[in-house]
Amino acid sequence: MSDRRSVALSGKELVMQPDEIIVTKTDLSGKITYGNRTFFKFAGYTEKECIGVQHNIVRHPDMPRTVFKAAWDTIQDGREIFAYVNNRSKNGDFYWVLAHMTPSRDKSGNVVGYHSNRRAPDKAIIKNSIIPLYDHLLKIERSAASPKDGLDAAYTDLKNMLATKKQTFNEFTLSLGG
Ligand SMILES: Cc1cc2nc3c(=O)[nH]c(=O)nc-3n(C[C@H](O)[C@H](O)[C@H](O)COP(=O)(O)O)c2cc1C
Repeated sequence: MSDRRSVALSGKELVMQPDEIIVTKTDLSGKITYGNRTFFKFAGYTEKECIGVQHNIVRHPDMPRTVFKAAWDTIQDGREIFAYVNNRSKNGDFYWVLAHMTPSRDKSGNVVGYHSNRRAPDKAIIKNSIIPLYDHLLKIERSAASPKDGLDAAYTDLKNMLATKKQTFNEFTLSLGG
């Protein structure tokens, strides 16, 4: 999306309220098929601009690719994932969410797409646990010789961290509280 990348980050945070929930659904390739009103409010796009478009339309450049790899690996394996995500609005603002992503199935159990609900994250968790971790992963991703090497190295680092803690990614996310 050229218009998205041409808009500079504003550094302004949009804060989700505890009674708000952002919902989107995608097809199997990650193209948005549905968004609720709260999604359009935070993303700053109209429904027309989003439907049929890849969900990375709200990707924030400071998000480590490792987190999206963990998310896709998990949902493509038919499982759910909980993850903190920093998103970018159309005008360059940002908003943090605690996302739950899960496969959607038809009556026969076939995965037909994906679904994500996001709630307001706890501010202290973002500041004290998530930003330091994501900055660490980003640094690894960006210091490698190639994007692929960076992703591999950061993903290995994340897996090692979880192994040391004896936690799955979801256990880690949910153990932070909030
Ligand atoms: C149901 C669902 C919801 C998603 N929600 C977001 C989201 O809110 N923000 C985001 O950056 N990526 C989200 N993604 C992941 C994107 O598809 C994409 O992998 C990510 O933005 C990284 O973009 P990139 O692959 O172009 O680097 C979602 C994917 C699915 C399947």
